[in-house]
Amino acid sequence: MLLLNSKEDEYTQLLRTASEIKNKHVGNIVYLRGLIEFSNICSKNCYYCGIRKSNKKVQRYNLTDEEIISAANFALQHNYGSIVLQSGEVQSKVFSKRIESLIKAIKRTSDNKLGITLSCGEQSEETYKRWFDAGAHRYLLRIETSNKELYDKIHPSDSLHSFENRLECIHFLKKCGYQIGTGIMIGLPFQCIEDLADDLLFMKDIDIDMCGMGPFLIHNETPFAQYDDSLLPLNERFELTLKMIALLRIMMPDINIASTTALQAIDKIGREKAIQVGANIIMPNVTPGIYRNNYKLYENKPCTDEDAVECSSCIEIRMKLVGAEIAYGKWGDSMHFKQKKNI
Ligand code: 5AD
Ligand code: SF4
Ligand code: FES
Repeated sequence: MLLLNSKEDEYTQLLRTASEIKNKHVGNIVYLRGLIEFSNICSKNCYYCGIRKSNKKVQRYNLTDEEIISAANFALQHNYGSIVLQSGEVQSKVFSKRIESLIKAIKRTSDNKLGITLSCGEQSEETYKRWFDAGAHRYLLRIETSNKELYDKIHPSDSLHSFENRLECIHFLKKCGYQIGTGIMIGLPFQCIEDLADDLLFMKDIDIDMCGMGPFLIHNETPFAQYDDSLLPLNERFELTLKMIALLRIMMPDINIASTTALQAIDKIGREKAIQVGANIIMPNVTPGIYRNNYKLYENKPCTDEDAVECSSCIEIRMKLVGAEIAYGKWGDSMHFKQKKNI
């Protein structure tokens, strides 16, 4: 079991193999997605998340359409190739319509040059379809854990937080034609190594095109702050995340794997390390600086004091440091998805 505390040389070997496989199948190339965290309003109460509905200390915001389009334009001008529109979960006709017209507006103003990934949680099949038809082509919906029992422990037990519904949404997304991305958190309370192994098998089994996974980190204004002392030490959560990325790269050589910001919250060069062991996607934040402090899912979230310009040059330097080439101006679709379509 490579996820367990392996010997030093096994660990090094695992990371090296993953790196070789990555270079062979997707190249030593990194694709960028300008991340627009356009609203922190959320109807849910996930026990781990800093912007959960019951956290009254968060100042809620919702970018205007102009602000969103201007953030997308920043990504376009900086040749990022793609954006991610991310928000808390809101299910309403107004929200659904608004996102639909925003997608169309971004496609229009960018002359179809920007690829669009959505990360707006669970929605109806009809909404997913509208957004796909409007021009979004990738969707991220993390399963958080593939173990239903664990899922039920990290969410309130009501119909808003149903494991079955989450699974069904992933199925809808696939049916609509999206490249689907899912992911999990590593080092959650009550989580064991077998759960993580099952998570990898789950991702392989549902045949994902993209993955974003990161270490679980405490947010002080959440019910899970109480477990701070009983979690795996931060360095172990970090190592385990790197191992999960490496193993997934070996299991699914041609998918897109994101190097997540949460890794950098533990290690200053955490995202670079993930790139070295298999990740190939980075999401520089393009949300206007003034809002960033209010999109804190966990403590010490990086890039909250910076703005889009700072993140842009920072990423460039960081990728140079690890010798990865940034593919500017490319959508960077999942090769796995493209190959499936060709069959
Ligand atoms: N630590 C790490 N990741 C978190 N997320 C939410 N809260 C936390 C936290 N405390 C992740 C979840 C969610 C994504 C948007 O952020 O996996 O799907
Ligand atoms: Fe809302 Fe997502 Fe946070 Fe859950 S994890 S409270 S759905 S923003
Ligand atoms: Fe945002 Fe480095 S990527 S400051």
